[in-house]
Amino acid sequence: MVVLLDWLTTIFVFLVGLAVAAIIVLFFIDRMQTADAVRRNYPVIGRLRYVFTELGEFFRQYFFAMDREEMPFNRAQRDWVYEAAQNKSTNVAFGSTRNLDPVGTPIFVNCPWPTLESDGARAAPMVIGGGVARQPYEAPSLFNISGMSYGALSTPAVRALSNGAAKAGCWMNTGEGGLSPYHLEGGCDIVFQIGTAKYGVRDHAGNLSDEKLREVAAHDQVKMFELKLSQGAKPGKGGILPAAKVNAEIAQIRGIPEGEASISPNRHPDINNGGELLDMIARIREVTGKPVGFKTVIGAYGWLENLFAEINRRGLDSAPDFITVDSGDGGTGAAPLPLIDNVGLTLRESLPMLVDLRDQAGLKQRIRIVASGKLVTPGEVAWALCAGADFVISARGFMFALGCIQAMKCNKNTCPTGITTHDPKLQRGLDPTNKAVRVASFVKQMRKEVGIIAHSCGVENPRQLRRYHVRMVCADGRSRPLDELYPTVNETEAA
Ligand SMILES: Cc1cc2nc3c(=O)[nH]c(=O)nc-3n(C[C@H](O)[C@H](O)[C@H](O)COP(=O)(O)O)c2cc1C
Repeated sequence: MVVLLDWLTTIFVFLVGLAVAAIIVLFFIDRMQTADAVRRNYPVIGRLRYVFTELGEFFRQYFFAMDREEMPFNRAQRDWVYEAAQNKSTNVAFGSTRNLDPVGTPIFVNCPWPTLESDGARAAPMVIGGGVARQPYEAPSLFNISGMSYGALSTPAVRALSNGAAKAGCWMNTGEGGLSPYHLEGGCDIVFQIGTAKYGVRDHAGNLSDEKLREVAAHDQVKMFELKLSQGAKPGKGGILPAAKVNAEIAQIRGIPEGEASISPNRHPDINNGGELLDMIARIREVTGKPVGFKTVIGAYGWLENLFAEINRRGLDSAPDFITVDSGDGGTGAAPLPLIDNVGLTLRESLPMLVDLRDQAGLKQRIRIVASGKLVTPGEVAWALCAGADFVISARGFMFALGCIQAMKCNKNTCPTGITTHDPKLQRGLDPTNKAVRVASFVKQMRKEVGIIAHSCGVENPRQLRRYHVRMVCADGRSRPLDELYPTVNETEAA
């Protein structure tokens, strides 16, 4: 009996020792690897996330939400991005988990004779600011990275995006926090955003500085300038960078004090109406020689009609080279809940509305339209192209490509995947080299699968998608073509 007990004790101690040794080995494996931020930041314990994610597939239907119920992005959307970013197969089996009944669901109309893959082509580059800016931009990619400031994003996140954008041949928007060396690192095309505080291009009094503009424009990589009037998550509120995130480097790049919250004005104090907006666009284009546009979320009535009428009075050269329309349900690093939830039209309404107003004013060939707002899967991007967007951009899609797990902690400096934190311990999880490859794969897979939808609809490339290629499910349960809901303006009239 005593011998047996001795044996059992020895086996128990051996097993515990083995478990401890295994944990130590896993700890080091997790800490050293660079592919997975959660495991790198939370060695061993981070593995449980993947065990539970795997098991969740089986248990969710009994206890928790289905694939399509999480917000702001459901699991099916996130999984598509994760898989595209890892260059894994995005094919799924058995059938769609998407309920096709809800109002607003887009359904593309397949052609009985789809375009043969061999006949399909990638969307050609499109020129922005042609014939007006001294250095127009031939934008190679229809899918690009939306503005997220250095400050809201961490150093390794910006580095990964810059390198990934260069690999994929798409542009990266700086967001309103100025231009950092990390944006330039990868050699990608850059859109410099001028926020309401004019970070990166302001003089000592906080006004727009021509000298600083010239310095930024001198970088060959900087291809365009975007004046930010508003963003979907917080129309009427400026950028908010909590004090905890304003470290010495960010303070220096923005031109503000370290350790104090960075709150930009809730609009450009020097732009009071459409005329002054056009004056400002003309000034920036004249100083920089590069195309200039503005970003806005659409809400109030009449101002766009007035703006387009004013452009026609002044002449086509006075027009912005592009307009970025952001959805009312867009993302942010930090914003007040009432603005996130209740202010600004969603892209479903505002994009066709903007396209129609532009076309009715005869400005189709002059002003490019860039669309953003939850366009993270090929179906959503293809819908935006049908509605009339010339380019699509995404912010949170790229965060998922970087490994974001939708922890919703962007404003806390505690992002567990190192994307929106300046805590070096958490940033350690995000390896820029590895994640740059994921960023590039995400863009390439997106372009490829939007192309698959285009071919299914019988056109050669995504830019040939038109409103009649997509039907929207309406309140009576029937779907209607988008061009019936938003009749397309005569193309020749719009030319
Ligand atoms: C972390 C974060 C930071 C952002 N920073 C900016 C910014 O500096 N300037 C801006 O115009 N928009 C900013 N945005 C908004 C995005 O550019 C984009 O317009 C919005 O999130 C909608 O795109 P999405 O649905 O693909 O995320 C930010 C969004 C996020 C998530």
